[in-house]
Amino acid sequence: MTAVQDFFTVCLSLLFPWQFLGIAISYLPGAIKHLVQTEPLQNISFSRIRDAWFNAFWARAGANIRVGNGPRITALLEGRVSQGRVVDKPVVPPVSGVILDIGPGPGFWVDLYAKSNTGDLKVYGVEPNTTAHAGLQMRAHQAGLDGVYNIIPTGIQDISKVEVTEIDGSTSKIEKGSVDCIVTLLCLCGIPEPEENIAELYQYLKKGGRWYIFEHVKTNKNYFMRFYQAFVNLFWPHIIGGCELCRDTKNSLLQAGPWERLDLVQPPEETWYATVPHVFGTLTK
Ligand SMILES: C[S@@+](CC[C@H](N)C(=O)[O-])C[C@H]1O[C@@H](n2cnc3c(N)ncnc32)[C@H](O)[C@@H]1O
Repeated sequence: MTAVQDFFTVCLSLLFPWQFLGIAISYLPGAIKHLVQTEPLQNISFSRIRDAWFNAFWARAGANIRVGNGPRITALLEGRVSQGRVVDKPVVPPVSGVILDIGPGPGFWVDLYAKSNTGDLKVYGVEPNTTAHAGLQMRAHQAGLDGVYNIIPTGIQDISKVEVTEIDGSTSKIEKGSVDCIVTLLCLCGIPEPEENIAELYQYLKKGGRWYIFEHVKTNKNYFMRFYQAFVNLFWPHIIGGCELCRDTKNSLLQAGPWERLDLVQPPEETWYATVPHVFGTLTK
């Protein structure tokens, strides 16, 4: 590539967040109209509008991300990601047992649990946005996960307070140290008080439990990108449902407690000029 081509490639990449924000804004009028038509006016709060707006936008954006990233997230949950790359053989066991599926939204990834459903699978989908629950329930049903996938209608900060109603009607709490796997896909950017809540989540994992991660994070490439990302982030959280671009989520995860095995890096194909860089991989307690 010539220097001119390189320059245009970088410029186009830097424009991508603005295009994403523009698409998100286009969903606001429809979301408000839908709420006004379907709910009593006194129920329509700012947070209700924000949730409905995000859900309407994510129906498109999340579906596109599902298509574009299907193979790599499939590999992640099969334990076949090493140093940010998809590999042929598992380097950690696939998701199994009792799973906390954090912030699943409308459930674009829930079908990936179906393969692990060998009898002892139990997935708790911790999703506070109730507008997303119908889609999540539907996708869990389509994946054959009735009786396996249980929606917890709260944020991660309240897991300890929740009495979970099991399929047989009994209630119980999710105990710390009882969870085999945690899955977080593009959701730790929107949780409150990330250091504290990530450290709290860590405690739910058993010894030997695995945390499967695909998250976008703060850039650490150069001063220009740090400044540019911080500038985009002046607007981003207000338009993308509270999502923060400049979180040092990898550090929060590493600081959450001791890990036996660390394999969490930026995918090597991501460039220095990515405004929304990721970390991808697994941590084993
Ligand atoms: C960008 S969406 C990603 C949804 C899904 N993981 C996906 O990849 O399609 C972020 C999700 O995190 C959820 N979320 C926000 N705050 C949360 C919290 N405190 N606890 C759990 N999930 C939360 C949002 O409601 C939303 O569904």
